[in-house]
Amino acid sequence: MLAIAVLAAGKGTRMKSDRPKVLQPLAGATLVERVMASTATLSPERMLLIVGHQAERVEAELQQHPSKPEFVLQQPQNGTGHAVQQLLAPLADFGGDLLVLNGDVPLLRSETLEALLNSHRNSGNAVTLLTAHLEDPTGYGRVFLDADGAVQEIIEHRDCSDEQRSNTLINAGIYCFHWPRLQQVLPKLSSDNDQGELYLTDTVALLGSAGHQIVDDLSEISGINNRAQLAQCEGMLQERLRQQWMAAGVSFIDPASCTLSEHTRFGRDVIIEPQCHFRGNNTIGDGCRIGPGSLITDSTLEHDVHVVLSMLNGATVSSSCRIGPYAHLRPEAVLARDVRIGNFVEVKKSQLGEGSKVNHLSYIGDAELGCHVNVGAGTITANYDGVSKHRTTIGDGSKTGANSVLVAPIKLGRNVTVGAGSTLTKDVPDNALALGRARQLLKQDWAGSRP
Ligand code: UD1
Ligand code: CA
Repeated sequence: MLAIAVLAAGKGTRMKSDRPKVLQPLAGATLVERVMASTATLSPERMLLIVGHQAERVEAELQQHPSKPEFVLQQPQNGTGHAVQQLLAPLADFGGDLLVLNGDVPLLRSETLEALLNSHRNSGNAVTLLTAHLEDPTGYGRVFLDADGAVQEIIEHRDCSDEQRSNTLINAGIYCFHWPRLQQVLPKLSSDNDQGELYLTDTVALLGSAGHQIVDDLSEISGINNRAQLAQCEGMLQERLRQQWMAAGVSFIDPASCTLSEHTRFGRDVIIEPQCHFRGNNTIGDGCRIGPGSLITDSTLEHDVHVVLSMLNGATVSSSCRIGPYAHLRPEAVLARDVRIGNFVEVKKSQLGEGSKVNHLSYIGDAELGCHVNVGAGTITANYDGVSKHRTTIGDGSKTGANSVLVAPIKLGRNVTVGAGSTLTKDVPDNALALGRARQLLKQDWAGSRP
């Protein structure tokens, strides 16, 4: 039997933020979401989240979380030991193991937690904790061992003597307790320390039978207490994501200049040029070439799409499309195969049929374009009358001349030609030429006739 508790009640004073620390984002997911995700393979009987500082906000953000946490309120926040004391009531009848995770240690792998749990269960210890040797252990609790290598006690950095501080074995803040034994010692914690708080780490000496597991990959146990550590973790996470995708067949020309999100998936033989950023949920198909300099958010690209110096947000792009440079695809832009979107073109909430081209300086909004439509430079769908949005429809094979304004609602049939500089307010039937501009006036030899 396994219960998991995530400590997420602290304020995170050192972050200097209005957001609770555990809601700070890292590669698009909050710290606490990441901690919970690292437990996904452990299938615990109970998942408890200890909340306190801005508890309503933390609860609201995690209400829909798939692991369905039980929220336990810690009020006031009197230390990590006090936080776990709040479990005495909800876990009164629980007889299994309790895995305690710090809500601000977001890069743990589930394999590491599984190994910790196994070693704890095999050892029969009252508690087994994750430790690491850090070159710079500043800020972390130091772990002291006895002659047999068992953990004797943990002393917080601020409570250590200078000599004790030279110990580089640190407490990662991840513990596996045998709950019935922890139940016995939790009420005995005292606040006799520099912060005047109840420390969970003090239970280790009280339990008298503690083991530890050293982690090899130090990135896993990085705790986040300030913005500098947040940035370091972001860097480590990005490096992990890039390595994962390189191993899966993605090429990066300049990996360090690109950032990915957890929920971006790539096919094979994707080439990512420098300065490309992926956010939210993206699917990038086989053989796509992205960049340089592009930002892609919540978009789906089929295979062999090329995107250069462009911004895509909520777009769906079919195979072999060419986007950019300097194109902007906004939510509900849906492009069929072989569409071309060129420089300074914005597309919003519009469907473009196969082989259509919008190559220069256009706004296409609330529109439906058939196949092989050629939109001339500077064509605008005037979709907004100041109150409501209206639709523009353009049939297969139609062409708009440069600088056309199509005042919606308007329908252009198939094979229509719109003369350059036209402002159209009325529908145009199939095969027609539509002109909506002032006739050219000519005055012969006008220059010579001026006084
Ligand atoms: C803690 C450990 C330290 C360890 C380090 C690893 C203690 C006393 N110290 O120190 O040995 O090296 O983690 O990262 O446990 N929290 C609550 N309620 C509280 C206080 C904190 O829920 O009253 C939560 C915080 O939201 C946070 C976690 O507990 O997620 C750790 O708290 P923090 O204050 O960051 O502990 P550290 O000083 O980092
Ligand atoms: Ca911490």
